[in-house]
Amino acid sequence: MTATKKRLKIVAAISLLLLLLVYLYRMASFCPSGKVAVSVPGVEEVQAKWPPTESPLQRSLQMAYEEQSSLIREQKAELQRTRENLARLEEQVRSLQTSTPRKYPKVKYLNYKNRKRILITGGAGFVGSHLVDDLMVQGHEVIVVDNFFTGRKRNVEHWLGHENFELIHHDIVNPLFIEIDEIYHLASPASPPHYMYNPVKTIKTNTMGTINVLGLAKRVMAKVLIASTSEVYGDPTVHPQPETYWGHVNPIGPRACYDEGKRVSETLSYAYAKQEKVQVRVARIFNTYGPRMHMNDGRVVSNFILQALRNETITVYGNGKQTRSFQYVSDLVDGMIALMASNYTQPVNLGNPVEQTIGEFAEIIKKLVGGPSVIKQSKAMEDDPQRRKPDITRARQLLHWEPKVPLETGLQRTISYFRNELARSDRFQESSNKYFDTHTP
Ligand SMILES: NC(=O)c1ccc[n+]([C@@H]2O[C@H](COP(=O)([O-])OP(=O)(O)OC[C@H]3O[C@@H](n4cnc5c(N)ncnc54)[C@H](O)[C@@H]3O)[C@@H](O)[C@H]2O)c1
Repeated sequence: MTATKKRLKIVAAISLLLLLLVYLYRMASFCPSGKVAVSVPGVEEVQAKWPPTESPLQRSLQMAYEEQSSLIREQKAELQRTRENLARLEEQVRSLQTSTPRKYPKVKYLNYKNRKRILITGGAGFVGSHLVDDLMVQGHEVIVVDNFFTGRKRNVEHWLGHENFELIHHDIVNPLFIEIDEIYHLASPASPPHYMYNPVKTIKTNTMGTINVLGLAKRVMAKVLIASTSEVYGDPTVHPQPETYWGHVNPIGPRACYDEGKRVSETLSYAYAKQEKVQVRVARIFNTYGPRMHMNDGRVVSNFILQALRNETITVYGNGKQTRSFQYVSDLVDGMIALMASNYTQPVNLGNPVEQTIGEFAEIIKKLVGGPSVIKQSKAMEDDPQRRKPDITRARQLLHWEPKVPLETGLQRTISYFRNELARSDRFQESSNKYFDTHTP
């Protein structure tokens, strides 16, 4: 081998050695532990961004941290966009729900000639809401006016939004201007605790309210049916009570605001009929019961059923020998509609002539509900009528009407309604307690 070749070999070996040393040095400075880092940014990249004073490891960690942070920022923005989309979708669902027709009970189609616009004052109450159901199903347009003193929107909520139905929050003590063909005037508290709660308002409702209704009927030439009551007979001295009986009412007793209020309501009706030629119908309604009765109206049916369902003592005021006759609400509604359709203008009794003592009635309810309740007598109520039984000869002859629903059938339906209502109020109570337990500081 020549000397030149030897020198070349030595230079090549030294160069290789130098390259190896440089490589080892670089590896050692990136991974002092000897392990190779995964996904570490390139040296050039690091050096371009960071001052050479920091170690490459620190810089690469910082870079990785920054990458993660920007990823989180992107994910947050994505989450925000998703939330906005969700809110938009929820809004669309809500608007679809309001524009999609709700399921209503089936109503008959009546053409323009046969369809009437019917106003029911007090239509969100117990009797009124059942009357609404019947007239709606018959295909009429029904307008309910109510101040919700004892009535509830829930009684008519199944018609809300229906094209034939309208609910107006209005106190009938104030005048009302509306175009209608017929009026059923039911607005008035009906149970003793309710009408005694504000006797002056009860009188106003039955006098000023009735004047407003009759004035409206006069203006638009509508026919009016006034919901009067068997209370116009007071504590009767004639039994059973025919419409020709003038009554036995204490004008200054605790019930007078209602009894006399209704008597004036009748007087006003006949005054408007005579003087202004308004077509009036007067229904003298006897004790009525059924679903949608006010839970705490203090009337004998609701009292006994609730006490029995709660396994409490069933309280009979007085000796239990006083009598009542109870009609089921659907019978009353049939009678009112028949009376409105008739040409008869004098008062008509609408009630069930099957008479029961209050004591017997308590026994029937105790038997139907079952349970351990006992029946006890307590102090008699002031001015509580001793005997009540309608003479319904007039209704039978002129309207071909008489009650159809047997007491036990009607009571079963009413008991099942009250049972559901109690369960519902328990559920509400429970969820309200839960809410306040978790939300009160
Ligand atoms: N249920 C019966 O046993 C019975 C017996 C005799 C007569 N009546 C008569 O039948 C009618 C209905 O009785 P109910 O048992 O459905 O009673 P209810 O209390 O359930 O209904 C009366 C309705 O009239 C409303 N009302 C009261 N004052 C009002 C006012 N100033 N303006 C507007 N609305 C008003 C109430 O909010 C309620 O919706 C009443 O006139 C009552 O005197 C009922």
